[in-house]
Amino acid sequence: MTLRITSLKNSVDRWGPVSQSLHWLIMLLILGMAVVGLSLDSLPKSPKYFWVYDLHKSTGLAVLALVVIRLAWRLYAGTPAPVAGTPVWQARIAAITHWMLYALILAMPLSGWLYDSASGLRPLKWFGLFTVPKLAAPDPAVRDFARAAHEWLFWVLVALVALHVAAAFYHHIFQNDDTLRRMLPRRGSSGSR
Ligand code: HEM
Ligand code: HEM
Repeated sequence: MTLRITSLKNSVDRWGPVSQSLHWLIMLLILGMAVVGLSLDSLPKSPKYFWVYDLHKSTGLAVLALVVIRLAWRLYAGTPAPVAGTPVWQARIAAITHWMLYALILAMPLSGWLYDSASGLRPLKWFGLFTVPKLAAPDPAVRDFARAAHEWLFWVLVALVALHVAAAFYHHIFQNDDTLRRMLPRRGSSGSR
């Protein structure tokens, strides 16, 4: 059986497997990043625990790369039209929310990277493989700005994700439309939709 690239792309009425996989993979990674990130503050600042920081930083940079790939794929593979019957104002709010989510999941790793750079810490090795370049020279003002941005942007992300998830379940449970289903793999093998 040949796998056609068109079957991986997004169609007019649903997200294809590449967009779906990236959506759910990034969701899981961000959840893990949040849990580890929030516990960093309470870790003793001793070399014994530095690997936890390094894991958070390396995974965060992997998220940055995945989001860039996801956006490039979205540009190439197109986006489904709004679910039939969606009022224009709702489609607009959904589009704005999606772009804000993208902005935030780019800004989170970038602010973390800037924070790491401006702190003048030891070199960061990406999963121990290669040294990550620093984005800025050591500078306490930039460090404090990036640290605050990393923390505050996270809470904005939490609020937007809550809205986003509530909207997805509202559509699924109360409107009983395809909004959630079209971000999930097809059920059964009929392939009729
Ligand atoms: C998707 C990406 C990321 C998410 C969702 C994320 C999330 C978080 C969260 C929730 C915190 C705790 C903030 C607080 O309440 O103080 C945190 C802390 C931290 N993050 Fe990230 N982060 C990401 C990427 C990165 C990257 C790429 C780096 C560095 C290269 C980084 C470096 C740090 C550091 C050093 C702290 C500890 C701050 C401190 O306690 O001094 N993060 N992160
Ligand atoms: C339980 C958690 C989540 C659920 C149930 C969910 C559900 C969905 C659904 C149903 C769509 C398709 C909407 C449509 O077709 O109009 C979607 C799209 C999207 N979601 Fe989520 N989502 C979740 C978590 C997240 C998280 C954590 C993020 C980012 C931080 C995120 C970012 C996006 C973005 C940017 C889109 C636009 C489509 C794309 O370009 O991939 N989602 N989500």
